[in-house]
Amino acid sequence: MKLDLDFIRNEYPSLREDYVFFDNAGGSQTLKRVMDKITAYYMTSDVQLGGTYSISTQARERVNSGTAQIAQTLNAKFPHEAVIGSSSTALIRLFSIVIGKTLQAGDEIIITNADHQANISPWQSLAEQGIVIKTWEFNTETFQLELEDLKQLMSAKTKLVAYCHVSNIFGTIHPAKEINAYIHRQGALAFVDGVAYAPHRLPDVQDIDADFYVYSIYKVFGPHIGVLYGKEEHLLRLPGINHSIVPNDDLPYKFQPGGPNYELTYALNGISEYLQAVAQHHGMNANEPIRTQMQFAYDLFDAHEEALAQHLLNFLATKDKVRIIGETTADKDVRVCTIAFVVEGINSPEIDAKVAANNIGIKTGNFYANGITKALDLDRQGGVVRVSMAHYNTFEELERLIAVLDDIF
Ligand SMILES: Cc1ncc(COP(=O)(O)O)c(C=O)c1O
Repeated sequence: MKLDLDFIRNEYPSLREDYVFFDNAGGSQTLKRVMDKITAYYMTSDVQLGGTYSISTQARERVNSGTAQIAQTLNAKFPHEAVIGSSSTALIRLFSIVIGKTLQAGDEIIITNADHQANISPWQSLAEQGIVIKTWEFNTETFQLELEDLKQLMSAKTKLVAYCHVSNIFGTIHPAKEINAYIHRQGALAFVDGVAYAPHRLPDVQDIDADFYVYSIYKVFGPHIGVLYGKEEHLLRLPGINHSIVPNDDLPYKFQPGGPNYELTYALNGISEYLQAVAQHHGMNANEPIRTQMQFAYDLFDAHEEALAQHLLNFLATKDKVRIIGETTADKDVRVCTIAFVVEGINSPEIDAKVAANNIGIKTGNFYANGITKALDLDRQGGVVRVSMAHYNTFEELERLIAVLDDIF
């Protein structure tokens, strides 16, 4: 079955303009359903939570329903395992601080050189308290974080491994289930950055057995906030970072200083409603469990995204001077449709500028994954050109980009 792109695009007001968005790994377009929920919150429940008056209880229910929906999107066991924060960067920083409080000098944390800085700098800061930081380096031939390399690094002192489910440059999907199983066998925790994964595949924290899993909602068609999943046992064990009088078992509040943003948290319902609407529009029965419907919608997205990736990769393969920085296959089991490349003899920002002149948004640089461009010596060239597509992009839009690129190189 093919994705009905007219139906899909009608859900995003910004897509009615004649502008092509291929910088989706930077941030996706936002659903009208999400915008409507934000407005509805302000119009009818614009109060503090915690009161007994009806509008306050309604506000509480709305905020809780948003958290419950996002917990379901993660396939968390309990809604209180979903911590809402202002961004993935802020959430990882916060958790690095609370996890750091449980560690001792000499303990080890492993980070990677393929991650976004958001999942690197907070851990590096723990070196100030004597934590040893080791780096899992990606294979420069395969562009993958290889489990064999992690095995060489881990020791009895390793307490946590922080790595990305998908790199925001390579687009390759790491086998998180296998990696996490290994990390657990060594007695450490797996802290997974799912930011580049969640817009393309439905996360399943129970299946991959992540201890922590984080992603940015504004890249998954929603408002500008982030979510962090933490396994209940860890959230109960870790010290909180809210007011000192917040009880230890008050999850997720003990990790949400100041509380979550009410209207944006409520708006998370819009994403889940959208996924269900997509599933039902394509024939799924509304009585099916919500996660089944979500998965059905994502399967439709993935098939379309794979076809888009194949089309772009086919074009790039005709160009001798192009080098793909990542897997050359479009196979949806191997990669997502975030495609990075460099062109011999042309600095990446030059390509970006010419594309931008045609009302097409792509981006170049290191995308805060500067370990990648450094290891591949691509900084001299201004980093990589990244075309990051989303399920709402069309073949016509891709043809527009290809025509412009074809003129450039
Ligand atoms: C892979 C990855 N991790 C983390 C982040 C940081 O996300 P946020 O902007 O929500 O802090 C990004 C942002 O682009 C990213 O691509």
